[in-house]
Amino acid sequence: MRQTLKVQISEKEREYNIEISDSPIEKLKQQIDEATKNQKRLFVISKRVYELYYCYFNFSQDEILILKDGEKEKNFKNYLKIMKRAEELGLTRGDVMIALGGGVIGDITGFASSTYMRGIDFIQVPTTLLSMVDSSVGGKTAIDFAGAKNILGSFYQPKTVFININFLKSLDRRQFLSGMGEVIKYAFIEENCGYKHALFLFEFLTLGCEKIMQKEPLTLIRMIEYCLNLKISVVNQDEKEGGLRKVLNFGHTLGHALEGVTNYKKYTHGEAVVYGMYFILKWAYEKQYINYSYYRLSTELLGKYGFKPLSKKYPVSKLIELMKKDKKAESDKITFIVPCDKKKVKEIKLLPQEAEYMFGG
Ligand code: GLY
Repeated sequence: MRQTLKVQISEKEREYNIEISDSPIEKLKQQIDEATKNQKRLFVISKRVYELYYCYFNFSQDEILILKDGEKEKNFKNYLKIMKRAEELGLTRGDVMIALGGGVIGDITGFASSTYMRGIDFIQVPTTLLSMVDSSVGGKTAIDFAGAKNILGSFYQPKTVFININFLKSLDRRQFLSGMGEVIKYAFIEENCGYKHALFLFEFLTLGCEKIMQKEPLTLIRMIEYCLNLKISVVNQDEKEGGLRKVLNFGHTLGHALEGVTNYKKYTHGEAVVYGMYFILKWAYEKQYINYSYYRLSTELLGKYGFKPLSKKYPVSKLIELMKKDKKAESDKITFIVPCDKKKVKEIKLLPQEAEYMFGG
């Protein structure tokens, strides 16, 4: 089954396709070869994907650069490695970089392609659930710098995104669930996204949990398609996060702080976002933004996938310090995306002392 979604950012010239398929992985080579005809290519491949799947691709060793996985790798040193390799290969304006891996590989390769010669073509081949439903689409690219996440970056749309769900077969349970954290996020914000009709993602995830966890191909394709339709709808309205796009950060204010306070070692991104969502759902219920019935359904949905609220405590002052540094923070206020109705959220801005109070500090 092959599904093609179109992303159109403001002008027609900036339209690109996202292909979602369950065809054998070896078909990807053909798809990529066709999409990059007559171009010089630099493949940036995650070590894990290289070890498991390289035999299916056999791209020339000259055109590949292997990077390790993990947030720590999204750094300036690896960015320079990509640039050096692109320069050695003699890549010019008409050429292309291809990211084959999870969110880290996609983000760093995207940033490199947006800055090399002021921007060359970029193709995303996401191989984790998280990168398929979120980071490979929408054009956010970045590296971490001076202890701050995604602080050097650009908005730079890919030329094409090839999603092949067969990569998910080898993804371990923890990483798969990390992606499910972002998937469930979309269920909580569906009403904000302005998609042309209701997708009922909340209900789909509640009823389809078993099939999803068994990685049933058609269910996964449908789930990814739902998430991307919602994301594309948001990005089409607000590419540069001037307003609406912020809803995609539901659960992320605390999530990013938890990743930071544990030096990106303890939680996956999705786990941290799930803790952030649990926290803000509870707060919203206590403040009567949402009623008990929706609060219960929401926590039950998270619970179905085996998630639990965070039990470990971290110093509130340290969390607030990290939230202040987050690039989503504006002047002296911290932004939270808060549930305010069924499948709907809104933005609130708090002073650090108000946020401290929110966390019981
Ligand atoms: N991951 C959130 C966004 O793309 O805006």
